[in-house]
Amino acid sequence: MPLHADAIPPAVREWLPDEFSLTEPRQGQSAQLTFVDDAQLVIKRACGPVYATWLAQEHRALVALADADLPIPRAIGLHTQPGTDGSDCEAWLVMTRLPGTPLGEVVARAENTEARADWYRRLGVIAARIHTLSVPSELVPDDPRPWLERVLERARNAPGNWVQKLAARFDRERQPDMPDTLIHGDFTIDNVLADGDAVTGVVDWGGAGPGDPRYDVTLALSRRDEQPLEPKVAAAFLEGYRSHALSRELRAFFEHSYTVP
Ligand SMILES: Nc1ncnc2c1ncn2[C@@H]1O[C@H](COP(=O)(O)OP(=O)(O)OP(=O)(O)O)[C@@H](O)[C@H]1O
Ligand SMILES: [Mg+2]
Repeated sequence: MPLHADAIPPAVREWLPDEFSLTEPRQGQSAQLTFVDDAQLVIKRACGPVYATWLAQEHRALVALADADLPIPRAIGLHTQPGTDGSDCEAWLVMTRLPGTPLGEVVARAENTEARADWYRRLGVIAARIHTLSVPSELVPDDPRPWLERVLERARNAPGNWVQKLAARFDRERQPDMPDTLIHGDFTIDNVLADGDAVTGVVDWGGAGPGDPRYDVTLALSRRDEQPLEPKVAAAFLEGYRSHALSRELRAFFEHSYTVP
């Protein structure tokens, strides 16, 4: 559903120019996105307690990482209010608009393996930059357990036998844990923007915080059609990231845990 200017709460309007027009980009799944054309701003609205909480976390991450050397939007403001559509609450985030198109589209148009490998190498460099930053204290959750413990507990308690089975198998075949680093938390190629021959933005920071960096790596290397990446392309990512490959079991677990509610 397109977002109409009349639906924008007065508190959010204050962050926008007096006159503006809106365009809808390709919509995400968890939020409603609108570009404020001439002002180079983006309005992101999330409804319901879970998505509103993610949007608040995205705002917290943009503020906490504002001075980090990363191409991320600048947060203009976050507004929360009781839901207008009957949901418990809704949140509105206004942020600057970054140039570029989603890397998923750019890669789909790339002419050959070499060109795709070049993009994934740049993606690896960005992932490494995120993972070597220290975690801002604002993003540390109250729960002191490592990220993987929290994810496993969610998986064990999630509805659906297959998730629990997967968690049990993972527990049995558990590989050595990695220390938590700062992670993006939804590091798919659709959350990365590219223009010319450079990565120009990383968006959608609602999952950011301390976590297992192999989660970001797994999502970066996953394709929407679940087909494996060409080996040269995956190798280029790891070259940019400066790491060796992850085991097949670990990637399978992270890919599946992505869908755990
Ligand atoms: N600040 C921004 N500047 C430029 N484009 C943006 C910005 N924020 C979001 N977009 C574009 O809008 C798309 C959807 O935004 P975002 O990923 O934040 O929403 P989402 O609802 O969480 O999406 P999904 O559920 O698909 O991950 C992005 O893939 C990107 O193309
Ligand atoms: Mg997204």
